[in-house]
Amino acid sequence: MAELSYAELRALVQPDRVHRRLYTDPVIFDLEMQRIFGTAWVFVGHDSQVANAGDFVKTQIGRDDFIMTRDKDGAIHLLANRCAHRGLALCAHEAGNARYFRCPYHGWTYRTDGTLASLPQRPSYPRDLRADEKAYELAQPPRVATYRGFVFASLAADGPSLDEYLNGITHSIDDLVDRAPDGEIALTGGRSRYLIRANWKLQIDNGVDLHHSTYTHVSTLDENGRQFARHGGGPRILIDGRKSIDWEPFGVVGFPFGHGYQGRPPVETLPSGPVYEAYVARLQARHGAMRTQQILKYDRFNSVIYPNITFQAFGQHIRLVRPISVDLTEINVFPVHLKGAPEELNRAAVRSLAATHSAASMIQTDDIEMFERAQIGLQSQQDDWVLFAGHEGSEQPWHEGGWRGLGTSEFVSRIQYAENWISYMTGGRGNDRLGVRADAV
Ligand code: FES
Ligand SMILES: [Fe+2]
Repeated sequence: MAELSYAELRALVQPDRVHRRLYTDPVIFDLEMQRIFGTAWVFVGHDSQVANAGDFVKTQIGRDDFIMTRDKDGAIHLLANRCAHRGLALCAHEAGNARYFRCPYHGWTYRTDGTLASLPQRPSYPRDLRADEKAYELAQPPRVATYRGFVFASLAADGPSLDEYLNGITHSIDDLVDRAPDGEIALTGGRSRYLIRANWKLQIDNGVDLHHSTYTHVSTLDENGRQFARHGGGPRILIDGRKSIDWEPFGVVGFPFGHGYQGRPPVETLPSGPVYEAYVARLQARHGAMRTQQILKYDRFNSVIYPNITFQAFGQHIRLVRPISVDLTEINVFPVHLKGAPEELNRAAVRSLAATHSAASMIQTDDIEMFERAQIGLQSQQDDWVLFAGHEGSEQPWHEGGWRGLGTSEFVSRIQYAENWISYMTGGRGNDRLGVRADAV
């Protein structure tokens, strides 16, 4: 594999701009898969996808295929989808329920915890191999951990714990999960899956970018809200009746390790009607009236957990970003099922999501057009730099930990590149401090 020296990598990232090669160079992409996705805590799925013993779902860490399983004792495993014999992709199904995984090539058979259940012709193997059970097991990442049902895995044996890694962004997870009257969410409502001809980081950059909304989503935000008027149902996503929006007061918040969220203006009118009232009543039964009122306030749009998910309580979804090659990315959008909420409310969320974030939607398609145009523009040799200088230096410490900048500030992207991307790419473990660039640590 081609390598880049420390100096070459350092030259690609400056405090407020990055070289276009980060988006276009296959050598950089290979290194990212090895050093970012091979080191950081990566979101691999939600425990509700494997609710019962034997349930499994295919997932990835970078380019490596894994099978997330629930074994017969209830433990979650992440098994390399690679037969320990000659390396075949063991499981061809996206999801299902199984007692065993049997390789179709020579019949090696594994339990749902990855241990070997049977190996035809076992006596024919040399004695030391026969004695070493471990040698026949499916590989598993050294670290798997969960936070409120969100399952993360790290291919690095050491490094920050998941709690240290997530730090302040756990508030965004809580903000989403607390909306479920049963205190749990489920990703069991299917998914919308599509490919974009663009680098994976364009979707991550976008998740902490409020500035683009005014321009990219003009057909939704403009005076007449034409898109949603046409859609004829579902919520007006942004702000009722405002012609232009001053994003600055809503802020963006950034945390160590590159996570962050976009603030959002208060919702002026919460929904009404019997279904919503039944939902509120169930929340109140669990949390009491005051806490319920707090929960129902929306104070953020997208949250990003670096490197591979963005999610939204307001839009009730989780978006998983799967890099495939330097200029091809798969996006998976999962509607979030709020356990204990009225069925109609959860169904309405699926419909609304189809209208806003599916491949044929009215908002995400705007963004996809921007990502694909960026991928085209960045091929140009006329200028090498991608600028993230907006509101440079104006961010302030924030009470949840991390820092907060004005709404159109690009400082969360600056954290991602100048503090974390460069740390991982030069052999580090990401940066657990803010405002201290990796080269100065
Ligand atoms: S490759 Fe799987 S059993 Fe041979
Ligand atoms: Fe957008």
